Amino acid sequence: MQMPHTPATKPEQRLAIFASGNGSNAEAIMTRFANHPVISVAGLLSNNANAYALERARKFNVPTLVFNREQFRQSQHVLNWLTEKKVTHLVLAGFMWLVPDYLVKKYEGRIINIHPALLPKYGGKGMYGMHVHEAVKAAGEAETGITIHLVNERYDEGKILLQARVKLTGSETAEEIAAKVHELEYRHYPDVIEKWVRNS
Ligand code: GAR
Repeated sequence: MQMPHTPATKPEQRLAIFASGNGSNAEAIMTRFANHPVISVAGLLSNNANAYALERARKFNVPTLVFNREQFRQSQHVLNWLTEKKVTHLVLAGFMWLVPDYLVKKYEGRIINIHPALLPKYGGKGMYGMHVHEAVKAAGEAETGITIHLVNERYDEGKILLQARVKLTGSETAEEIAAKVHELEYRHYPDVIEKWVRNS
């Protein structure tokens, strides 16, 4: 008797988003993968119980976890949750803490970050969010942009997957620079995540 042919299906790829604040990138990512055939958002994690990103996740019915520094650094708390949710890839979207070694090892090559400047400029510890845009303004840069990169044990040093640029006139406020950069982020980050997940 001949068996019916069943095509091999790629297993579902499940993202966990790490976000510390507003979460507008997280929202762009949850929107992109809300009805995706193979990629879904399995959870959103935050170090900040007041992060608006958590509200956004609830709106999408995405489970959330809040953790403190000790739970993140020294315990199985976060890892157990990720394992329970069958998470395959970690997506940092405005996440302000260094990812500890045990997570980098567990998810080697499967952690991605977005940085709101053209690395290696304006990267490293303390360079996040508005601090970056203020430094870009103070330096009188003629352009800024985004860097999407893999995550290793050091801030902002993993392999770069994409950089995108935007020109500056010199008369923008730091808030206006942030708005230009955010626009680039929403345009590129979901696309890069999709390609990266499909190829990893
Ligand atoms: C984004 O611009 C992101 O690139 C940046 O924080 C902002 C978060 O905005 N990330 C870093 O600075 C990481 N070093 P959001 O919470 O609205 O997505």
